Amino acid sequence: MQTHYRVHTERADQPAEDKIIHHLINAQGYVSGEEIAQELRMSRTAIWNHVNNLKKIGFRIESRPHLGYQLVAIPDRLLPALILNSLKTKLIGRKIFHYPRTTSSNDEAEKLARMGEHEGAVIIAEEQTSGKGRVGRVWHSPKGKGIYLSVILRPQMPPARISFLTLCSAISAAGAIHRCSGLRAFVKWPNDVLLSGKKACGILTELATEADRINYAIVGVGINVNQEISDLAGLTMATSLKIEKRGEVSRLELTKSFLESLDSNYALLLHEHYGEIIDRWLQVSETIGKRILAESLSGEKWEGVATGLDEDGCLLLRLDNGMTKRITGGDVSIL
Ligand code: BTN
Repeated sequence: MQTHYRVHTERADQPAEDKIIHHLINAQGYVSGEEIAQELRMSRTAIWNHVNNLKKIGFRIESRPHLGYQLVAIPDRLLPALILNSLKTKLIGRKIFHYPRTTSSNDEAEKLARMGEHEGAVIIAEEQTSGKGRVGRVWHSPKGKGIYLSVILRPQMPPARISFLTLCSAISAAGAIHRCSGLRAFVKWPNDVLLSGKKACGILTELATEADRINYAIVGVGINVNQEISDLAGLTMATSLKIEKRGEVSRLELTKSFLESLDSNYALLLHEHYGEIIDRWLQVSETIGKRILAESLSGEKWEGVATGLDEDGCLLLRLDNGMTKRITGGDVSIL
C-alpha cells in the first residue's frame, strides 16, 4: 500500500500565521489583538482563530484581556517563520519549504527544482521515512531529533568542480556545529563531519546536468543533533551533538547558523575563490596528513597518506610507491 503524506504545512493559512509569529516574536511584551488585526487587515476574531491554531502546533501564547497576546515559548520545530525571522542570508534559505514528514527532503527538492524553483530554496523535513545516504545507504531520520534539509543550487560552474558544493557544505556544517555547541567538528573527505572521530553529519549532493552544464544541484544535509544513543542503535560509527555535548542543542539556531555559513561559503564558490574554500576545508580537516584507505565505488582500494586536495576538490593520496593517486569519489577510512 502506498502512503501519501500531506506535506508543506499543517496550518490552514500559513502566510497569516507566519506574520502573527513575526509580530509575537518581535513584540516587547504583550501585543494587542487589535494592533495585529489592523496590520494584517483581518478581524480580531480571525486573529484569535489563528492564535489558537498556533497553540495547537506547540506555540505557548498567553492572552490577557486589554493587553493582548504574549509569546511564552516556541515549539521545537524548524518552521520557516521561526528561521526567517532573523536569518542573515542573501541567497540561501530566503524561501523555505517545511515538511512535517516526507520520504526524503532531497526528493522533494528535486521535484521543486524540476518545476523551476529558484536557487537558494531550502527544503526541511522534521522526519524522513526514506532518508537517503550516499551509495544507496539509508539515513536514519527520527522525528524532531536531527536536521534534515536540502538546498536547491544552480551554480554556473563545470560539473567537474561539483565536489566543491560538498566541501562548502561540510565546512559550513562544521562551523555551525562549533558555534552552536562549542564542539570541535572535523571534516572527513568527501562528505562527512565528525565529532570525536564519529560521524555526526553527512552530505548527499545530487546533480542534474545538461550537456556540460549543471542544470541544478541538490545538496542534502543530515545532522544528528539531539539523537540519544538508542536512536543510533546499530550505527557504531555515528554520534550526535547531544551525545558529545551531554546536553541538547537548539536545532533552530543550528539550522540558521548553517544556512548563514553556507550562504557565505557558496558566495565564495560563485566568485571562483576555490583556493579560499580549500584553505577553510584544510583548517578543519581530519583527513590530510593521515594514513587512509580509499575505496572507489567499483571496489578498487588504495592505501597511502592523504596529502591535499587538487583544483577540482579531489583527494590526493601519496601511495607507498611514491606515486600520487587522485581520488575522485568513493569512501575513505582513516587507518
Ligand atoms: C551520507 O553521509 O551518506 C549522506 C547523508 C545525507 C542525509 C541527508 S538528510 C537530508 C537529505 N535528504 C536525504 O534523504 N538525504 C539527505
